[in-house]
Amino acid sequence: MKSTSSIGIEKKQILQSGLRPLLLLSFISCAIILIWFLLVGTIDPYVESSLALQGSVDKGNSLFKMNCVGCHGITAQGLVGPELNNVTDQLSDEKIINQVIKGLTPPMPSFEMEPQSMADLLAYLHSLN
Ligand code: HEC
Repeated sequence: MKSTSSIGIEKKQILQSGLRPLLLLSFISCAIILIWFLLVGTIDPYVESSLALQGSVDKGNSLFKMNCVGCHGITAQGLVGPELNNVTDQLSDEKIINQVIKGLTPPMPSFEMEPQSMADLLAYLHSLN
């Protein structure tokens, strides 16, 4: 008789102590998901500063000749990589910036450049339309 009741109490305690970390865990995961959404929703400072700058088509042209023609062709007609003549109609500037700096689609490498150079490159790509 005595032993059954003590088992009953133990079960109750296990249930209570097992529930608390579980609740805490679900609370924490909700918080993480919320923070993740907030971070993803905000625009990248690199993208922001590149978009704020005025680009030079001429400088962008030489940057393109130095870094991109090997794969995208001397007139951006496409080679290993796709044609880029109308790329600014198809992709947003933000997407193009991410394509260039993040290396998300191998074999295209990621490039490190100043926001000003990125603005120049974008100005050049816009001039191709
Ligand atoms: C080593 C080859 C290579 C070099 C160098 C390269 N790219 Fe690419 N690029 C690719 C390939 C391959 C793709 C297609 C990737 C995919 O989506 O599968 C691509 C895709 C792109 C796209 C997306 C096109 C679209 O229609 O989705 C853009 C924009 C782009 N490249 C711009 C550039 C710029 C600007 C440079 C120079 C700074 C550059 N690339 C240098 C190979 C290259």
